[in-house]
Amino acid sequence: MLTIAPFDSDLDEVVAFARRFEQEALEHYPALPRPDLTALPDMLNRIAARSHGLVARDRGEMVGCLTVIGPFSNYHGGASGIFSPLLTCLAQPEHADRIFTEMLTALGEASELDGVDTMAVSLFAHQANLRESVVLNGFGARCADAVQQLDLLPQSTSDFPFAIEEVHWRDAVSIIEVKRALAAHLNGSPVFMEYFDFTPEFVAKKSEERESVHLIARDGDRIVGYVEATYAGENYLTIHPTMRNICGAGVLPEYRDRGIMRELVARLADRYRAEGITTLGVDYETMNPNARGFWERYFVPYTRSFERRFDRPWSRS
Ligand SMILES: CC(C)(COP(=O)(O)OP(=O)(O)OC[C@H]1O[C@@H](n2cnc3c(N)ncnc32)[C@H](O)[C@@H]1OP(=O)(O)O)[C@@H](O)C(=O)NCCC(=O)NCCS
Repeated sequence: MLTIAPFDSDLDEVVAFARRFEQEALEHYPALPRPDLTALPDMLNRIAARSHGLVARDRGEMVGCLTVIGPFSNYHGGASGIFSPLLTCLAQPEHADRIFTEMLTALGEASELDGVDTMAVSLFAHQANLRESVVLNGFGARCADAVQQLDLLPQSTSDFPFAIEEVHWRDAVSIIEVKRALAAHLNGSPVFMEYFDFTPEFVAKKSEERESVHLIARDGDRIVGYVEATYAGENYLTIHPTMRNICGAGVLPEYRDRGIMRELVARLADRYRAEGITTLGVDYETMNPNARGFWERYFVPYTRSFERRFDRPWSRS
């Protein structure tokens, strides 16, 4: 008999439950660096402090959990959104559909979440049963994280026809036009993302906060492509001393399909290899076909996230 209760129990039990899924994922995606043993409890602790969570039990034994952070206002174009990060939506695979569906039902009845109209959930890419339940419950794919060992990425070339240079984060505003081209792409068909505007203040602040590494490609004086990488990606596994993470990339439309991004990624790998980094990660929207096509050619997707916009906001009444 399945029971769903608010998550107010001992965090150790949730950590032990989540640890099994973490270990399985590390076996499944060998390119992922091994996290410190404290990384998972630290992440779950941080989330528990600012979340709403549920635990599913069958005859007392934990069989699932669903924790969300938020609500955030103006979330992906919705008025009020919540997000369940990696390893905070879990269900025993054999009964994943029933467990997830009942946890989702109970979550929607929580008065603290009145007004929510958008929910996103991140899963490991191989969690097929849970993914099927999420999709049958009306969620659609939106984002992914992917990973690759530097030595398995394309090799740089010595006679590349465009100049490749590094731009320090302090000078990031100088490449604002090529960043704006990325925003224009994301705003248009078929992505239709409500993407933030790259103002000079925003670019300067974000680059400083993240100590971004930018590599650019030039055709004469014109900057025609860039890739940006930082320390942390979008989930706790990306925060690792031997890993760096790509968080933005674009090539001007008339310069695409000439190998510019492949060369930028190869040179980024060279740059990091020299520092002892072994792994590169990237996060992207799978609903952006350029990103999905390019990144999944060279990197292994290990998470998929799904989102649902509810026809009307959650409410108990
Ligand atoms: C994604 C993007 C950066 C790729 O840059 P690019 O310089 O055109 O890519 P490259 O020419 O280096 O492509 C390298 C390889 O990837 C393949 N590739 C590129 N885009 C692809 C796609 N959409 N689908 C499948 N394969 C793709 C190329 O065919 C090429 O393969 P090859 O090695 O067999 O020749 C570019 O399309 C772009 O700027 N898109 C708009 C912005 C965007 O979506 N950025 C990503 C956001 S995270």
